[in-house]
Amino acid sequence: MLHSRPVANIDKSNGYEAIAPDYIARRGSQGGGIGARVVAEWSQQLPAGGTILDVGCGNGVPISEVLIERGFRVYGVDASPAMVESFRTRFPGVPVQCSSVDDSDFFGRSFDGVVAWGLVFLFSEEAQRRLLAKIGGALQSGGLLLFTAPRQRCTWADAMTGQDSVSLGEEEYRRILESAGLVVIGTASDEGENHYYLARKV
Ligand SMILES: C[S@@+](CC[C@H](N)C(=O)[O-])C[C@H]1O[C@@H](n2cnc3c(N)ncnc32)[C@H](O)[C@@H]1O
Repeated sequence: MLHSRPVANIDKSNGYEAIAPDYIARRGSQGGGIGARVVAEWSQQLPAGGTILDVGCGNGVPISEVLIERGFRVYGVDASPAMVESFRTRFPGVPVQCSSVDDSDFFGRSFDGVVAWGLVFLFSEEAQRRLLAKIGGALQSGGLLLFTAPRQRCTWADAMTGQDSVSLGEEEYRRILESAGLVVIGTASDEGENHYYLARKV
Protein backbone atom coordinates (compact mmCIF):
# COMPACT_ATOMS: atom_id res chain seq x y z
CA MET A 1 0.00 0.00 0.00
CA LEU A 2 1.24 3.46 -0.90
CA HIS A 3 1.45 6.04 1.87
CA SER A 4 1.22 9.69 0.94
CA ARG A 5 3.93 11.85 2.50
CA PRO A 6 3.53 15.51 3.44
CA VAL A 7 5.01 17.70 0.72
CA ALA A 8 8.29 19.13 1.99
CA ASN A 9 8.66 22.89 2.17
CA ILE A 10 10.81 23.84 -0.76
CA ASP A 11 13.03 26.82 -0.07
CA LYS A 12 12.92 29.32 -2.94
CA SER A 13 14.93 31.96 -1.07
CA ASN A 14 18.36 30.62 -2.08
CA GLY A 15 19.17 29.80 1.55
CA TYR A 16 18.07 33.13 3.08
CA GLU A 17 15.09 31.76 5.00
CA ALA A 18 17.46 29.62 7.10
CA ILE A 19 19.64 32.58 8.08
CA ALA A 20 16.92 35.28 8.16
CA PRO A 21 17.15 36.13 11.91
CA ASP A 22 20.92 36.59 11.64
CA TYR A 23 20.60 38.57 8.41
CA ILE A 24 17.93 40.87 9.85
CA ALA A 25 19.99 41.50 13.00
CA ARG A 26 23.11 42.36 10.98
CA ARG A 27 21.44 44.37 8.22
CA GLY A 28 19.92 46.63 10.83
CA SER A 29 23.11 47.23 12.76
CA GLN A 30 26.71 46.71 11.61
CA GLY A 31 27.04 48.39 8.25
CA GLY A 32 23.27 48.22 7.99
CA GLY A 33 23.05 51.27 5.83
CA ILE A 34 24.85 49.77 2.83
CA GLY A 35 22.87 50.69 -0.27
CA ALA A 36 20.79 53.40 1.38
CA ARG A 37 22.76 56.33 -0.04
CA VAL A 38 22.87 54.93 -3.57
CA VAL A 39 19.14 54.14 -3.56
CA ALA A 40 18.26 57.56 -2.13
CA GLU A 41 20.26 59.29 -4.90
CA TRP A 42 18.80 57.03 -7.58
CA SER A 43 15.26 57.80 -6.39
CA GLN A 44 15.78 61.51 -7.12
CA GLN A 45 15.44 60.69 -10.83
CA LEU A 46 12.04 59.07 -10.29
CA PRO A 47 8.71 60.92 -10.38
CA ALA A 48 7.63 62.14 -6.93
CA GLY A 49 5.33 59.59 -5.32
CA GLY A 50 6.10 57.06 -8.08
CA THR A 51 5.65 53.33 -7.75
CA ILE A 52 8.70 51.15 -7.11
CA LEU A 53 9.13 47.38 -6.93
CA ASP A 54 11.79 46.16 -4.47
CA VAL A 55 12.68 42.66 -5.74
CA GLY A 56 14.23 40.42 -3.08
CA CYS A 57 13.31 43.13 -0.55
CA GLY A 58 14.39 41.11 2.49
CA ASN A 59 13.18 42.82 5.67
CA GLY A 60 13.02 46.14 3.81
CA VAL A 61 15.85 47.77 5.76
CA PRO A 62 17.35 49.96 4.45
CA ILE A 63 16.35 49.75 0.75
CA SER A 64 12.54 49.89 0.89
CA GLU A 65 12.82 52.07 3.97
CA VAL A 66 14.59 54.98 2.25
CA LEU A 67 12.04 54.86 -0.58
CA ILE A 68 9.03 54.75 1.76
CA GLU A 69 10.48 57.66 3.76
CA ARG A 70 10.73 59.67 0.53
CA GLY A 71 7.07 59.17 -0.31
CA PHE A 72 7.30 56.48 -2.98
CA ARG A 73 4.69 53.74 -3.25
CA VAL A 74 6.78 50.64 -2.64
CA TYR A 75 5.86 47.05 -3.44
CA GLY A 76 8.11 44.34 -2.03
CA VAL A 77 8.58 40.73 -3.01
CA ASP A 78 10.73 38.13 -1.26
CA ALA A 79 10.72 34.34 -1.09
CA SER A 80 11.66 34.11 2.60
CA PRO A 81 8.62 33.99 4.94
CA ALA A 82 10.71 35.25 7.88
CA MET A 83 12.01 38.23 5.90
CA VAL A 84 8.49 39.08 4.73
CA GLU A 85 7.10 38.83 8.26
CA SER A 86 9.76 41.23 9.49
CA PHE A 87 9.00 43.60 6.56
CA ARG A 88 5.28 43.57 7.40
CA THR A 89 5.94 44.32 11.06
CA ARG A 90 8.24 47.19 10.19
CA PHE A 91 6.13 48.64 7.35
CA PRO A 92 2.47 47.84 7.99
CA GLY A 93 0.29 48.73 5.01
CA VAL A 94 3.10 48.48 2.46
CA PRO A 95 2.26 45.74 -0.04
CA VAL A 96 4.73 42.88 0.24
CA GLN A 97 4.37 39.44 -1.26
CA CYS A 98 6.01 36.26 0.00
CA SER A 99 6.84 34.68 -3.32
CA SER A 100 9.70 33.68 -5.55
CA VAL A 101 10.37 36.09 -8.41
CA ASP A 102 9.23 33.34 -10.77
CA ASP A 103 5.79 33.11 -9.15
CA SER A 104 5.14 36.73 -8.17
CA ASP A 105 2.21 38.45 -9.89
CA PHE A 106 3.65 41.88 -9.00
CA PHE A 107 5.48 41.69 -12.35
CA GLY A 108 2.06 42.02 -13.99
CA ARG A 109 1.92 45.60 -12.64
CA SER A 110 3.63 48.65 -14.04
CA PHE A 111 6.39 50.49 -12.15
CA ASP A 112 8.34 53.73 -12.39
CA GLY A 113 11.32 52.00 -10.80
CA VAL A 114 12.60 48.55 -9.88
CA VAL A 115 15.39 47.92 -7.38
CA ALA A 116 17.09 44.56 -6.78
CA TRP A 117 19.83 44.95 -4.17
CA GLY A 118 21.83 41.79 -3.46
CA LEU A 119 19.59 39.48 -5.47
CA VAL A 120 20.31 38.95 -9.18
CA PHE A 121 23.59 37.05 -8.74
CA LEU A 122 21.94 34.49 -6.45
CA PHE A 123 20.32 32.96 -9.54
CA SER A 124 21.59 30.71 -12.30
CA GLU A 125 22.45 32.40 -15.59
CA GLU A 126 19.15 31.31 -17.12
CA ALA A 127 17.13 32.53 -14.13
CA GLN A 128 18.95 35.90 -14.22
CA ARG A 129 17.99 36.32 -17.89
CA ARG A 130 14.38 35.43 -17.04
CA LEU A 131 14.27 37.88 -14.14
CA LEU A 132 15.79 40.79 -16.07
CA ALA A 133 13.31 40.18 -18.90
CA LYS A 134 10.43 40.22 -16.39
CA ILE A 135 11.71 43.45 -14.89
CA GLY A 136 11.90 44.97 -18.38
CA GLY A 137 8.27 44.01 -18.90
CA ALA A 138 7.17 45.56 -15.60
CA LEU A 139 8.86 48.95 -16.12
CA GLN A 140 7.05 51.80 -17.80
CA SER A 141 8.74 53.47 -20.71
CA GLY A 142 11.39 55.74 -19.17
CA GLY A 143 11.29 53.69 -15.94
CA LEU A 144 14.52 53.02 -14.06
CA LEU A 145 16.24 49.86 -12.81
CA LEU A 146 18.95 49.62 -10.15
CA PHE A 147 20.55 46.27 -9.35
CA THR A 148 23.80 45.02 -7.86
CA ALA A 149 26.22 42.50 -9.36
CA PRO A 150 29.99 42.45 -9.73
CA ARG A 151 31.46 44.14 -12.79
CA GLN A 152 33.48 41.12 -13.88
CA ARG A 153 32.20 37.69 -14.79
CA CYS A 154 32.83 35.48 -11.73
CA THR A 155 31.44 32.91 -9.32
CA TRP A 156 31.75 32.76 -5.54
CA ALA A 157 30.12 31.35 -2.45
CA ASP A 158 27.60 33.71 -0.84
CA ALA A 159 29.13 35.00 2.41
CA MET A 160 26.06 34.25 4.54
CA THR A 161 24.46 31.19 2.95
CA GLY A 162 27.47 29.53 1.33
CA GLN A 163 25.39 29.03 -1.83
CA ASP A 164 26.79 29.56 -5.33
CA SER A 165 26.58 33.08 -6.72
CA VAL A 166 27.36 34.10 -10.27
CA SER A 167 27.96 37.42 -11.96
CA LEU A 168 27.53 37.40 -15.73
CA GLY A 169 29.77 40.47 -16.03
CA GLU A 170 29.08 43.95 -17.34
CA GLU A 171 29.22 43.12 -21.06
CA GLU A 172 26.69 40.34 -20.72
CA TYR A 173 24.40 42.35 -18.45
CA ARG A 174 24.40 45.13 -21.05
CA ARG A 175 23.39 42.63 -23.73
CA ILE A 176 20.67 41.02 -21.61
CA LEU A 177 19.26 44.39 -20.59
CA GLU A 178 19.22 45.56 -24.19
CA SER A 179 17.19 42.56 -25.24
CA ALA A 180 14.83 43.30 -22.33
CA GLY A 181 14.26 46.81 -23.72
CA LEU A 182 16.59 48.57 -21.30
CA VAL A 183 19.71 50.61 -21.79
CA VAL A 184 22.50 50.86 -19.19
CA ILE A 185 22.90 54.50 -18.16
CA GLY A 186 25.60 54.01 -15.54
CA THR A 187 27.60 51.64 -13.39
CA ALA A 188 29.53 52.35 -10.18
CA SER A 189 30.58 50.87 -6.83
CA ASP A 190 29.46 52.00 -3.39
CA GLU A 191 31.33 52.28 -0.08
CA GLY A 192 30.69 48.57 0.60
CA GLU A 193 32.27 47.69 -2.78
CA ASN A 194 28.90 46.64 -4.15
CA HIS A 195 28.96 47.21 -7.89
CA TYR A 196 25.66 48.39 -9.29
CA TYR A 197 23.99 48.93 -12.64
CA LEU A 198 21.59 51.72 -13.52
CA ALA A 199 19.36 51.18 -16.54
CA ARG A 200 16.42 52.90 -18.22
CA LYS A 201 13.53 51.32 -20.10
CA VAL A 202 13.53 52.65 -23.65
C1 LIG B 1 21.19 39.42 0.06
S1 LIG B 1 19.50 39.44 0.51
C2 LIG B 1 19.10 41.11 0.07
C3 LIG B 1 17.87 41.61 0.77
C4 LIG B 1 17.60 43.11 0.60
N1 LIG B 1 17.47 43.48 -0.80
C5 LIG B 1 18.70 43.92 1.25
O1 LIG B 1 19.32 44.75 0.58
O2 LIG B 1 18.90 43.74 2.45
C6 LIG B 1 18.75 38.50 -0.78
C7 LIG B 1 17.23 38.40 -0.63
O3 LIG B 1 16.70 37.78 -1.80
C8 LIG B 1 15.67 36.90 -1.41
N2 LIG B 1 15.53 35.88 -2.46
C9 LIG B 1 16.40 34.91 -2.79
N3 LIG B 1 15.93 34.16 -3.79
C10 LIG B 1 14.71 34.67 -4.11
C11 LIG B 1 13.73 34.34 -5.09
N4 LIG B 1 13.89 33.28 -5.90
N5 LIG B 1 12.62 35.09 -5.15
C12 LIG B 1 12.44 36.15 -4.31
N6 LIG B 1 13.34 36.51 -3.36
C13 LIG B 1 14.46 35.78 -3.27
C14 LIG B 1 16.15 36.33 -0.09
O4 LIG B 1 15.09 35.79 0.66
C15 LIG B 1 16.79 37.55 0.55
O5 LIG B 1 15.89 38.25 1.34
